[in-house]
Amino acid sequence: MAGRLHITTLGCQMNEYDSGRMADLLRSESGLETTADPEQADVLLLNTCSVREKAQEKVFSLLGRWRRLKQRRPDLVIGVGGCVASQEGEAILQRAPFVDLVFGPQTIHRLPGMIEQLRASGRAQVDVSFPEIEKFDRLPEPRVAGAAAFVSIMEGCSRFCSYCIVPFTRGAEISRPFAQVLAEVEGLLDGGVREVTLLGQNVNAWRGALPGGGHGDLATLIRHLARLNGLERLRFTTSHPLEFGDALIDAYAEVPQLADYLHLPVQSGSDRILALMQRGYTRLEYRHKVRRLRAVRPQLSLSSDFIVGFPGETEADFRQTLELIAEVGFDQSFSFVYSARPGTPAANLPDVVPRELALERLARLQERVDGQARTISAAMVGSVQRVLVERPARRNPRQLAGRTSNMRWVNFDGPAGLVHRFVDVHITEALPNSLRGRLVA
Ligand code: SAH
Ligand code: SF4
Ligand code: F3S
Repeated sequence: MAGRLHITTLGCQMNEYDSGRMADLLRSESGLETTADPEQADVLLLNTCSVREKAQEKVFSLLGRWRRLKQRRPDLVIGVGGCVASQEGEAILQRAPFVDLVFGPQTIHRLPGMIEQLRASGRAQVDVSFPEIEKFDRLPEPRVAGAAAFVSIMEGCSRFCSYCIVPFTRGAEISRPFAQVLAEVEGLLDGGVREVTLLGQNVNAWRGALPGGGHGDLATLIRHLARLNGLERLRFTTSHPLEFGDALIDAYAEVPQLADYLHLPVQSGSDRILALMQRGYTRLEYRHKVRRLRAVRPQLSLSSDFIVGFPGETEADFRQTLELIAEVGFDQSFSFVYSARPGTPAANLPDVVPRELALERLARLQERVDGQARTISAAMVGSVQRVLVERPARRNPRQLAGRTSNMRWVNFDGPAGLVHRFVDVHITEALPNSLRGRLVA
């Protein structure tokens, strides 16, 4: 079966990774070439997210659009995967009967077979089971696109924060074995990748089987990967503060490839709210980890996720979050208004914060973090930064755009031949969302 495949991806980097693997698989097994244009596609896949209500609503509005495409071309195949699919299963078909495939985050490797069965039987196919780690054994080597790549090293999450749907949609934590991760990273490096981001919802809980028996932790994995030829920069996300142990802190002291940027979501600065969230740490414990990280890596940029308007959050609780933001000096934040997820314990908590108030707090929080980010950017002016060139700049084709170790975009004049390479750039100017610089000869 030849034809074209379009994938729209919502949600986190793990979904992005999965979508990449789905494209690799359907290219090698079903001969489908990807297209960015849904109108050109024969197979349309939507990789969904249900972490907040808004993300979930997007799914059905997008599907409504795809339904109109299918009315014109009845042989179009429409599939829904990811976390909404995992949660809703068959129910997707009731709400959107024109959907042909429903697959979960752990069954993406079965897509070619599901499409075949659909074609043979004419009946919609649903498989949202959790066949453990099987998916990674059944996927082809990832195709390299660019010099930076994601590698999922585990699936699922077993933390059960009181507000979160992820443990229900993705299942329990399962780590990919050490040898498998190593092989995937080696393949990427052979293809020219220079920066790898290891992915997991609770990535620092990785405990991969070692070839000689036993299990290794994330710090062990990082030390091994850092020894591979060609791996110049290493990131990992998302970490949970509770399981961020000494070995990982030591890795920041000893492994220069680890980027000067760590996403370590704290969610709130109020101990009362942290307890209601069942995060398992206090504000002081969080600060303590940060202090030790900064002791070994003074220039480390920290980013966090925040939930504002969690049930029961008072102005005093919120102020503690603002205080913590100042104390830690967060460089970036992904902040969200609390969204009640059906079936999670927090959905039954009293004292719902009015939406207006939550939105106001969100704006105040973002303003604070943005201000701190500007200060950090301004302090970078005059320094020389190692930049991974990702592409020609959008506005000016004679310029290149790349990213610093602390995740800032830098634009500078340079030849296209430098794309996908590491270069040194002298930072000359800090703008609100990027930096400008000059290539160091
Ligand atoms: N595993 C990661 C986060 C995954 S979800 C971690 O623990 O940090 C990404 C972010 O979405 C979370 O950090 C949280 O800030 C936000 N989030 C999760 N559930 C939410 C909900 N019900 N309402 C609002 N934001 C939520
Ligand atoms: Fe959700 Fe908590 Fe797991 Fe993150 S650690 S995915 S917030 S349950
Ligand atoms: Fe969303 Fe699922 Fe990722 S709920 S954030 S796509 S794990």
